[in-house]
Amino acid sequence: MWSERFCFLFLIFYVFTPVSNLNAGNETTTQQAPSESVARDLLYSQQWQKSPHANHKLANEINSGAMANPSNAKCLVCHTSQGFIQWAREGFTPFRSAVNSSGGGFMPTILEDETALAPTCIACHDPQTEMTKGTGGNDPMLRLKSKPRALLGGFKIGNVGRGAICMVCHNNGQGLTNDATTPVMKSARAPHKANQADIFMGENFFFVKTGNPAYHVNAIYNTCTACHMGSTYKQRHPTDHSFQATFEICYACHKEFDPMDVKYSVLWGLETLKATIDTAITDFAQTGIDAGKFRLLNMNEDEKVEKDYTSFSEGRISDVNIRYLYERQVIEVKVNGKSYLTSLDVIESKGFRLLDSVQGQIIAKAAWNLFMIDKDGSFGAHNHKLISEVIKETLKKLEETDFKVIVPLPN
Ligand code: HEC
Ligand code: HEC
Ligand code: HEC
Ligand code: HEC
Ligand code: HEC
Repeated sequence: MWSERFCFLFLIFYVFTPVSNLNAGNETTTQQAPSESVARDLLYSQQWQKSPHANHKLANEINSGAMANPSNAKCLVCHTSQGFIQWAREGFTPFRSAVNSSGGGFMPTILEDETALAPTCIACHDPQTEMTKGTGGNDPMLRLKSKPRALLGGFKIGNVGRGAICMVCHNNGQGLTNDATTPVMKSARAPHKANQADIFMGENFFFVKTGNPAYHVNAIYNTCTACHMGSTYKQRHPTDHSFQATFEICYACHKEFDPMDVKYSVLWGLETLKATIDTAITDFAQTGIDAGKFRLLNMNEDEKVEKDYTSFSEGRISDVNIRYLYERQVIEVKVNGKSYLTSLDVIESKGFRLLDSVQGQIIAKAAWNLFMIDKDGSFGAHNHKLISEVIKETLKKLEETDFKVIVPLPN
């Protein structure tokens, strides 16, 4: 069924677009015969179909409202072609504050069941625009040209070339979260797994200075697409529409160090950070039990939460495992050998909710940093300097805090 729908879209794409018009990308391209462009577009279509962008199932699940309350409409701008195109026509205006369609700003329309399309060709490419010839060669008719703009994530992007079209979707999309905007975390939130532009532009971390873009923003022309579509830096043609990057590409510009060292150092950092957070939570909980007061709200995997707290006045905490459960920080924990799963913000030690204590705030912020690095999925490739600093500063903060002492937040 989806392939039919895709063919239909593809047809529209062709009707509006003389294929030779799309023969763009870089200066060294020579005009191709129409048969070659058809072969190329077929290749792109095969690559795209294997890419995560072709996930119509997720698009429809989100459209159905199964995943978000109260409003799934705003999810559609990044998760469906229809929502994205509607949003593009509105000039990609931020609409974060408008939760319902009567609230002023733009809100995409919920689609009929099973009609949502994941990001297809016509999401990124506008078949109706005029071809223009810029300094970077022919224009691939992207719906978004690079110019400074605010993202839903609450920060601006500047001169990022063709990467702009990626960043408008690949950002956390929930406004800013850092020491200045969020001195106190009110819930044990975790980022949306779409935070690549945040990392690239140096945003959304605790314990470090934010707002400094990665060296690569200026160093790599067209940013995201250079590494993920293999185009600009190698003048490779055709471009790669599977959108996958590997550490191999680093060798094109770097001889002075082994890029794999970047990946291994971040993997080590993630592991160490997680272990240190697990230990901090263990200390926090054990201190409560030792004082005769620890409790949690148990839940099961499909997120049914028990109404009543389970309380413990003695015993042993073990096997703490902090985990990401769709934008939330949760832990698996054994108390006296029995396993529980609980949201981090509902555990209470010595009568204090974790987030109402100085030590608990450090745990939740450290875990936010952990999930920012983990969910980005680039192992430091997107901003190694910042990521190594975040790992260092977060570990330092955890190491200089005694989690066996529980101090309530002032007021
Ligand atoms: C997620 C966004 C996205 C999707 C989906 C997408 N493209 Fe592209 N496409 C791009 C970007 C970005 C470029 C420019 C890459 C560069 O050179 O930096 C591009 C370049 C092109 C070009 C220019 C020729 C070239 O190789 O430089 C053609 C043709 C093209 N895409 C066709 C397609 C077709 C056909 C599909 C659907 C099967 C598709 N694209 C899906 C983002 C997308
Ligand atoms: C600003 C754009 C944007 C918005 C708004 C957005 N998403 Fe996403 N979402 C993405 C991108 C991009 C990815 C994939 C990134 C990756 O895999 O690294 C993603 C991934 C996901 C995933 C798969 C990864 C996971 O965490 O399991 C789910 C599920 C999801 N989104 C649900 C939603 C829901 C529900 C909403 C609305 C409440 C929403 N998204 C709003 C951009 C967005
Ligand atoms: C219309 C919004 C949108 C745009 C534009 C977009 N993406 Fe995505 N991208 C998504 C969504 C949604 C997913 C996740 C789908 C899923 O999880 O099944 C995704 C997934 C990915 C993934 C796979 C992530 C993983 O966890 O495996 C990569 C890599 C990626 N995108 C790169 C890019 C690049 C590079 C660009 C720019 C050329 C781009 N995307 C533009 C929405 C977008
Ligand atoms: C310097 C090259 C480079 C640049 C620039 C770059 N990336 Fe990446 N990206 C990588 C590498 C390398 C990985 C990790 C691939 C791996 O080993 O799994 C990655 C991982 C990702 C992933 C996760 C893929 C997965 O399988 O989980 C997404 C999504 C992504 N990048 C999107 C982007 C976006 C959006 C931009 C622009 C803001 C961008 N990238 C800029 C190199 C780059
Ligand atoms: C198109 C060329 C290009 C590619 C591809 C590229 N880089 Fe870079 N990178 C640069 C330039 C230029 C600088 C800035 C050098 C300077 O100022 O000393 C830089 C700086 C760096 C730095 C030092 C700054 C920092 O953030 O710590 C690291 C580490 C780095 N790159 C890692 C990588 C990795 C890992 C990859 C592959 C995923 C990669 N680079 C791919 C051009 C590139």
